[in-house]
Amino acid sequence: MCRMIAPHATSAPASVRAVTKAVVPAAGLGTRFLPATKATPKEMLPVVDKPAIQYVVEEAAAAGLDDVLMVTGRHKRAIEDHFDNAFELEQALAAKGDTVRLDSVRDPARLANIHHIRQGEPLGLGHAVLCARRHVGDQPFAVLLGDDLIDPRETLLSRMLDVRDQYAGSVVALMEVDPEQIHLYGCAAVEATGEDDVVRVTGLVEKPSRRDAPSTYAVIGRYVLDPAVFDTLERTPPGRGGEIQLTDALQELAADGTVHGVVFDGLRYDTGDKADYLRTVVRLACARDDLGPEFTSWLKEFVTGLEDGTVDGRHRQAA
Ligand code: G1P
Repeated sequence: MCRMIAPHATSAPASVRAVTKAVVPAAGLGTRFLPATKATPKEMLPVVDKPAIQYVVEEAAAAGLDDVLMVTGRHKRAIEDHFDNAFELEQALAAKGDTVRLDSVRDPARLANIHHIRQGEPLGLGHAVLCARRHVGDQPFAVLLGDDLIDPRETLLSRMLDVRDQYAGSVVALMEVDPEQIHLYGCAAVEATGEDDVVRVTGLVEKPSRRDAPSTYAVIGRYVLDPAVFDTLERTPPGRGGEIQLTDALQELAADGTVHGVVFDGLRYDTGDKADYLRTVVRLACARDDLGPEFTSWLKEFVTGLEDGTVDGRHRQAA
């Protein structure tokens, strides 16, 4: 069962693409990040000073997708609030004349037209996408997974939209990973096309063992899907982990030759993984104009201190 929640009306950037809608599944329990995620959705964990999910919505908006549907679960109220107006906070900041913070509070609700729907039961990613059917209708759409954060300097999603324009069908983002890691991902069997960064996907398997994996191409959390995926998902039985897997539905479409992959070798972070989360915060903090210079020089000193033994990395202390 999926339940619609009233959308937040916002201004949105104009788009000239055939694809205008993005779906962001955000119903997971975030068990990899307990206890931080006991009462806070994992998507709301801060990456520097913005919740992880805001980067995802900014990525969609930057690619011209001005309609974003969040598929949330219970305990995800904070996500709805974050992309809504915060009247009292805005009034207080306006009264102080603090326009910089006022803008930062208003920005999330201005990024796109944001809608929310609840995935009543945790039946898997495929089911979460199926929950978007009524909202998306009969048009291609993007899916962005909240745990995967693509560096804001990359243009992966725009490239995927171009590939959808060129080849039709569905497009997945692929990244070569260490064979030891492939069991954490959907894995694609691929054939070359004439283009360096585009492959034809001939098969997909969800989280295979290293031995059974057809390649080291991992599906990372960006998809541009043909609406045909909905009919396929309707008849997709529970797969790995007893969940309805998007990968299984795409495997059926791949058998018809209608799935392509964009091979990405840029910066991508898994913010659901603790070590990768920390790397994300450090990298993005270093890239910031306001924080980067000071933080980077502290970081260099800290690392030097770790190497020469003047800083003990096992204890809390200032470098
Ligand atoms: C999901 C997908 C998987 C994909 C991964 C990317 O898995 O099911 O195919 O490779 O996202 O992050 P999850 O990480 O949600 O278990």
